Amino acid sequence: MSERADGLRRRARRRRLGACFGGAEVGRYGGSVRRPVLGGVVAAGAVAVFCVLVAGGQAVGQVPQAEHGAASMAYQERAFEALLGEVDVTAVPVGLDPVVWEAFIPADNKMTPARVALGKKLFFDKRLSKDGTVSCATCHDVTRAFTDQRAVSEGIGDQLGRRNAPTTMNAALLQTVFLDGRSPTLDHQARMPIINPIEMGFADGESAAKAIGDDPEYKKMFAEAYGGEVNYEDMGRAMGAFERTMVFLDSPFRRFLEGEEEAISADAREGWRLFNEEARCVSCHHMNPSNPLGTDNRFHNVGVSARHRDFEQLVRDGVKALQADPSEAKLEELALATDMSELGRFMVTKNRSDIGAFRTSMLLNIGITQPYMHDGTLATLWDVMDHYNKGGEANLFLDGGMEPLALSEKQIDQVVAFLFALTDDRFAEENRRQMDQQRAKAQKDRPFRDEAMANRKKLAFEDRIQK
Ligand code: HEC
Ligand code: HEC
Repeated sequence: MSERADGLRRRARRRRLGACFGGAEVGRYGGSVRRPVLGGVVAAGAVAVFCVLVAGGQAVGQVPQAEHGAASMAYQERAFEALLGEVDVTAVPVGLDPVVWEAFIPADNKMTPARVALGKKLFFDKRLSKDGTVSCATCHDVTRAFTDQRAVSEGIGDQLGRRNAPTTMNAALLQTVFLDGRSPTLDHQARMPIINPIEMGFADGESAAKAIGDDPEYKKMFAEAYGGEVNYEDMGRAMGAFERTMVFLDSPFRRFLEGEEEAISADAREGWRLFNEEARCVSCHHMNPSNPLGTDNRFHNVGVSARHRDFEQLVRDGVKALQADPSEAKLEELALATDMSELGRFMVTKNRSDIGAFRTSMLLNIGITQPYMHDGTLATLWDVMDHYNKGGEANLFLDGGMEPLALSEKQIDQVVAFLFALTDDRFAEENRRQMDQQRAKAQKDRPFRDEAMANRKKLAFEDRIQK
């Protein structure tokens, strides 16, 4: 195993073990590990044992577990229902322009209750993985803001990938899907993990459809939703429809933009100003009432990969691998299971300007989806700010918009306060808990801080020469 893979594995394991904070005892990982859940999401009495972190940060119970450290599927389904309540899936989600919303719905997959119900069943079904241990919700766990809150994800056979699982919240509003944009729609994307060898592991879509094809309930639901047999394409469509119900836009920041000045703190308001001015975040993270997500939907190299990669060699390897096998399945495998993952958008476009570039992340709900960046290497939003403050990690392909920012500690705290104001109100409690935890961590350790670089007292090449 390469040194990096080994490091990732150790880091992921630590994360799992340390996941239920506040000094609670943890079980052996893979078994009954206690992990925090979004407090207040599940109706009291729904389950006997669960792990909610109360205000003081103490664990008081335990969440029923599934494999790979996820919350059990039944528990997650109830949590999902509690989060969303009764919704009319054919209506435009509150706060969205109907024309914009329509544009995100494929012509062959209009929203219907039957399709969403089918997609929901599939999303939580571990039979969609070859060994029956992994569902979509293993890595996009409802109790963890629809991510796994780990650096990189774990699929069948406990295999670790190379990328951090993004949240599926608001993914319905993205112009391209996957961190390198290699998929055009949610309906297409949802088919890919099923055949990825390190995620759900079926050899092809047909085998996956066969695995559930005899289930009379599925037969009935497919017929109702799409008028036919159980099949792979419609599996993707149904899950796409289900994911289009995961719209979470109700943040304090939104109320602020609508004119409610006091909806966010004075620090957060100053953070918003810095975000648009000295800190230059807005040059990529577009954020306004008509574009609430905080992404320009474009791809930039912000110097994350450059920390641990020799791009030149990787580019040669990547080009060779894709020449030998240009299939979609191969690209899928290279992106998740090999060092070439770090090339990002380049593997999709083969443009040199896309080397090490990833899609500008959404910032809504960012407070609750740690760790950060495509490889999950930044644990807190303070680490993210340290990364940007020094101008990212220097490399030949760094985006022109990246440069040292010379922000003070106070200003960093203010931008972070702003970022924590972007979380949907339904996760307010978890957001506060995350903020406290991240702050405590940052007070102890700021591994990416480099004040000399941030203030241009040192130039990037000096570090490289000294190495
Ligand atoms: C083993 C963990 C794992 C499983 C299982 C998994 N995902 Fe993911 N998911 C990830 C990772 C990691 C990424 C990022 C991969 C990339 O961008 O290359 C991702 C990306 C996504 C995205 C893209 C979000 C964005 O910001 O572009 C969506 C949507 C998504 N997954 C939905 C699903 C669905 C639906 C399923 C089930 C069919 C599923 N995932 C199964 C780990 C997983
Ligand atoms: C040059 C464009 C650019 C600028 C400027 C920029 N970002 Fe980003 N941001 C990105 C891209 C691209 C990513 C994804 C990088 C990756 O995953 O490797 C990202 C990722 C992030 C993430 C992590 C998201 C996640 O889910 O993991 C946060 C938080 C963030 N940016 C906040 C900021 C803030 C705050 C600023 C201003 C100080 C800023 N960004 C400036 C393009 C930019």
